[in-house]
Amino acid sequence: MAKGVFITFEGIDGCGKSTQFMRVSEYFKETGRKFIVVREPGGTTVGEKIREILLDKKNDSMTSLAELMLYEAARAQITEEVIKPALEEGTSVLCDRFFDSTSAYQGYARGLGSELTDTLNKIATAGVVPDMTFLLDLDTEVAYKRRNTRGEAEDRLEALGNSFQDKVRAGYLECAKKDDRIKVIDASGTPDEIFEEIKRWLSEIL
Ligand SMILES: Nc1ncnc2c1ncn2[C@@H]1O[C@H](COP(=O)(O)OP(=O)(O)O)[C@@H](O)[C@H]1O
Ligand SMILES: [Mg+2]
Repeated sequence: MAKGVFITFEGIDGCGKSTQFMRVSEYFKETGRKFIVVREPGGTTVGEKIREILLDKKNDSMTSLAELMLYEAARAQITEEVIKPALEEGTSVLCDRFFDSTSAYQGYARGLGSELTDTLNKIATAGVVPDMTFLLDLDTEVAYKRRNTRGEAEDRLEALGNSFQDKVRAGYLECAKKDDRIKVIDASGTPDEIFEEIKRWLSEIL
């Protein structure tokens, strides 16, 4: 049976992930591909509960290690319950954030280290790796301004400020240096320009 492709979108808050994620899903629809869309953390009953805990600003006493474990718990659930079965039956999966987020946020920005996050990422995903990952790279100030125009309240991680987002951005770029799967996209352009670049990369695997 045809193997579904697994595509993930990464980058700091406000870089434009959801915007491109929606464009790619429309593109998949138009081209008649069988696919599902999921988001992390969440995407399952258990995962959405964990998401609430993670994003709730009341939980500001959460330790970095507890945060890491919660992300991995949600990831284990969505991988086993949703992503793996879909890929096995030939359905493509588009995912808004996956384990590179943990490498950048918890491993790099929180300082837990890539050895720990790599190990836990592998355990939580049972070795499921995206075929291609789009890292939308954007200046943190620009991302901050974009987020403000979106008009939603900040969540617990967004409220950490731009110096934290700078570290996350650097963490993502470190990940991209180590792995060809991750395509670094300049996210400062228009949504159309970014989407064209994404489509060029996608043509390599579709
Ligand atoms: N290329 C772009 N140029 C300008 N604004 C953008 C661009 N892409 C997205 N936006 C806007 O920026 C805000 C954040 O985009 P979004 O896709 O929600 O980012 P993310 O999911 O990464 O947090 C939204 O209001 C969106 O409409
Ligand atoms: Mg988003």
